[in-house]
Amino acid sequence: MSSSKKKIVENIFYVGVNDREKTLFENYLPLPQGVAYNSYLINDVQTALIDTVDVHFVGQFLANVEYILQGKPLDYLIINHMEPDHAGSIGFVCQKYPNVKIVGNVKTFEMLKGYFGIDNQIHTVKEGDSISLGEHQLSFFMAPMVHWPEVMVTYEQKTQILFSADAFGTFGTNDGGFMDTQLNTDKYWDEMRRYYACIVGKYGAPTQAALKKLSALPISFICSTHGPVWQKEIAKVVSLYDKWSKYEAQKEGVVIAYGSMYGHTMQMAEAVCEGVIAGGVKDAIIYNVSKTDTSFILSDIFQYNGLIIGSPTYNTELFPLIETLVHQIEHRGIKNKVYSCFGSYSWHGNAVNILTQLAQKLNWQMVSPTVENKHALSQDKEKQCFALGQAVAEKLKVVSIA
Ligand code: FEO
Repeated sequence: MSSSKKKIVENIFYVGVNDREKTLFENYLPLPQGVAYNSYLINDVQTALIDTVDVHFVGQFLANVEYILQGKPLDYLIINHMEPDHAGSIGFVCQKYPNVKIVGNVKTFEMLKGYFGIDNQIHTVKEGDSISLGEHQLSFFMAPMVHWPEVMVTYEQKTQILFSADAFGTFGTNDGGFMDTQLNTDKYWDEMRRYYACIVGKYGAPTQAALKKLSALPISFICSTHGPVWQKEIAKVVSLYDKWSKYEAQKEGVVIAYGSMYGHTMQMAEAVCEGVIAGGVKDAIIYNVSKTDTSFILSDIFQYNGLIIGSPTYNTELFPLIETLVHQIEHRGIKNKVYSCFGSYSWHGNAVNILTQLAQKLNWQMVSPTVENKHALSQDKEKQCFALGQAVAEKLKVVSIA
C-alpha cells in the first residue's frame, strides 16, 4: 500500500479493504459489485483507528494499519458500530496493540463483552463527549438504529470529517481509489439505494433523527464504513438519505412485481404494464420474483412512486416468493405508494384479497378495481388488467414527486 494513495487529508488515512469474494452480504444479499469494509487511521500525537473490517481480511487490514503507524503505538480504537462486518477484527487489533484504549458507548461495550469477552481498557463516551489526539479532536454523537442500537458517529473538528458508520454507505468496491473525487461514482447510486433499502430501510425515523442532529455540523468529508469517501457528492448523498428515510420516491414510475407458476399471472403482468405505458408513465419495470432477487425489487420500490403486485393463489395463500417480498415491504413500513394488485387461481382465489390488505396496512393509495382471474386469461380479464395499469398511471399523474 502506498501511503500517499491512502491519504484523505494530512495525517488521516484510509486503511480499509475490498471484498471481491463474498457472494452474499449478511449471507443473503447478492454482491454483484462486491463491497468495501472501510476503516480510518488518524496519525496524530496520539493515534486512533476508527472501526475495523470483516475478520476474513484481518491480515491485509493489520498490514494497512502498520504501514501508516511504522511501529508507533495505537492509542485508541473507536468503535462506531459493532456489526461483525466492521467489528470482526477487534480481537486481533487488541492482540497486536495490547495497550489500545477502546472507545464506545454503553451499548457498544455490552456487545464487545458478548462477542470478544473484552471489558477492560474501555473508555465510555456519551452524546457530545470529545477526545483530543493532539491537533485533532474527536467528538461522538449517538445514532441509534442506523443501523443497530449502539451505533454512533465520530466527528473530527479540524478537518470537518464525519466518520458516519453505515450511514451513507453503499455496496460496491473502491476500485483503484477510495475518494469520490477520484472515481466515476455512477456505479454506486443504484447500489447505494439497494444498500439503504435492505440494510437501513426499516429505520426511516431514526435516520431522520440522525440527519437532523448532524445538520448543524460543517462537513467536508463523509467517511462511511462502505463505499467511497464522500467529498464532492456530500450534498447528493445527504439528500438521497433524506428522501429515502422519508419514504419519498425519486422518480415517477411503476414497479410491477409478479410471481407465476404456469404463466397466467405473467400474462396479466404484461397487460397491466401495457396499460401503465398507455397511461403515459414511461418507467414501468416488470420483475418476475422467481428470477430477480428481492433486494433489487425493494430498491426499485424505494425509487419509484407506483407499485403493482401480482400473485397466484397458492394453497389459499400468496405465492411463496411474493409472500417474501410482501413481508420485506411490511417489515420496512414502506410508505407513499400508489398501488394496486392482481392475481390468478385455479380452485380457490385469495391472493388479491391478501394483497389488497397490504395497502390498508401501509396506508397506500389503492387504485381499484383489482383483477383476479380464474384459469386461462380471458380477453375480458386481459382488458381489465390493461385498465388497471392505465388507472395506476393516471393516478400517478396527479401525485407529485417531492
Ligand atoms: Fe456495515 Fe451494520 O454493518
